[in-house]
Amino acid sequence: MTGAFLTFEGIDGCGKSTQLRLIASQLRLRGLEAIATREPGGTALGTRLRAALLDAEESVDPLAELLIFAADRAQHVKTLVRPALESGHIVLSDRYADATIAYQGAGRGFPAELVAQVVELATGGLKPDLTLVFDLSVAECLARTRRRRTDTGSLGDRLESEDAAFHMRVRDAYLELAQREPERVRIIDASGSVDETHVHVTEVVTEFLEKNTGARSQEPE
Ligand code: TYD
Repeated sequence: MTGAFLTFEGIDGCGKSTQLRLIASQLRLRGLEAIATREPGGTALGTRLRAALLDAEESVDPLAELLIFAADRAQHVKTLVRPALESGHIVLSDRYADATIAYQGAGRGFPAELVAQVVELATGGLKPDLTLVFDLSVAECLARTRRRRTDTGSLGDRLESEDAAFHMRVRDAYLELAQREPERVRIIDASGSVDETHVHVTEVVTEFLEKNTGARSQEPE
């Protein structure tokens, strides 16, 4: 089986990280070699870059932000994603290049062509085979992140703290990507329960794997 590269996207609080964990363990139960990773922070260097990028107390210039996300991605692609794909693994990444198009492009306002060039440089042209965009209203996402902060006592990260208008631009950018590339980018309605959304994710991922890698689903007993 050749590898497959699946990315999970959406605005903060959409629930993509929970869904990634669930589908990753389900794929492993089916005997598939699934690697779960994330951006920023999928590598040792990335962990340090993530801390700097998301620190709510840090003031980061927008251009520096764009380039640090790109540096994290370059390291991630070279040292983890490509080697894993070459050895036939299914790589599931919590965010990838579409996040830069949405957050730094639409959110921060960098021109689309510049963002595309930076993405191309960092990824060497590696595109996901399938991208799931978890879609939910900005109001509901903000309510979820607020609840999470109260439950965990965390301050939230620097990008989460942007205003609703920023998150609306990010959401619109993801929806536009899905319209532009309907084969690769699939919208998942994230307004239901964790279990309901998981059922939907399982359908989309299973269909994709059957079509594209010949992976047979062996449901756990
Ligand atoms: P995320 O991993 O979703 O944070 P958490 O799992 O803690 O909710 O993403 C971290 C933040 O980084 C998120 O607000 C989006 C932002 N981000 C960008 O702005 N550009 C990028 O290219 C990437 C990968 C993330």
